[in-house]
Amino acid sequence: MRVTVGQIREMKQKGEKITMLTAYDYATARLIDEAGVPLILVGDSLGMVVLGYESTIPVTIEEMLHHTRAVVKGAQQAMVIGDMPFMTYHAKIEDAIYNAGRFLKEAGAQAVKLEGGQSMAETVRRVVDCGIPVMGHIGLTPQSIHQLGGFKVQGKSPEAAVRLVKDAIALEQAGAFSIVLEAIPAPLARVITQKVSVPTIGIGAGPFCDGQVQVISDLLGLYTDFVPKHAKQYARLYEIISKATSDYIREVQQGTFPTEKQSFAMDEGLLEGLDKEL
Ligand code: KIV
Repeated sequence: MRVTVGQIREMKQKGEKITMLTAYDYATARLIDEAGVPLILVGDSLGMVVLGYESTIPVTIEEMLHHTRAVVKGAQQAMVIGDMPFMTYHAKIEDAIYNAGRFLKEAGAQAVKLEGGQSMAETVRRVVDCGIPVMGHIGLTPQSIHQLGGFKVQGKSPEAAVRLVKDAIALEQAGAFSIVLEAIPAPLARVITQKVSVPTIGIGAGPFCDGQVQVISDLLGLYTDFVPKHAKQYARLYEIISKATSDYIREVQQGTFPTEKQSFAMDEGLLEGLDKEL
């Protein structure tokens, strides 16, 4: 049975910490699903860590649907959440409903995530009214980096802190089943977590959130262009991949790969007279 919105809400009530990881492909989704992560986010961070873009802004809905389909195939238990890319839910509420629906209908996701607080509350309400679970996302919202002036910690002034608390309450009232808090001071994340009944999932928001999310490429040490302060490398796959690749190049050049073990045999007698046939 796949994880449900009700189970995620219940985890907060029971005080069980929630984990979420991003995934962008079948193989990774399968591994992290088997390891037991209850929430898998197909984040638009894929723009940077998979597609090599400078930000999440150029990511298209077709790219998101393509990767979400692969993740859904790999994950049997976890709830898969598709991240709505920039400009697929901003211009009109009808666009938001239609595009959120595509994640469920065409990619098989169970929920969507979108960025924004009070200004997005009505959009969230209308999408939820259509039966589509929505995860909110406030604080550092990467689709607004040009407005925010870069990847900066949010909510540091009293006014900004109040605004973020109001954003979280507005999302809860609109029906969001959980809220990502990105790059906000830990004490403020604690206040928000106490003020709302839905789970908060932090990234760079300290230990007091109901759950944590990490970008899988940061966690595994795969993406080294930029390692954010909030990321912890639980593995250093870049070292393993670099070594494996140079070992392979060396062995091919030396003629020590492939060996008999990786080759297919045949009765060489069948090759006799081959020249005459050519
Ligand atoms: O796109 C993403 O991966 C995200 C997480 C960092 C929350 O939005």
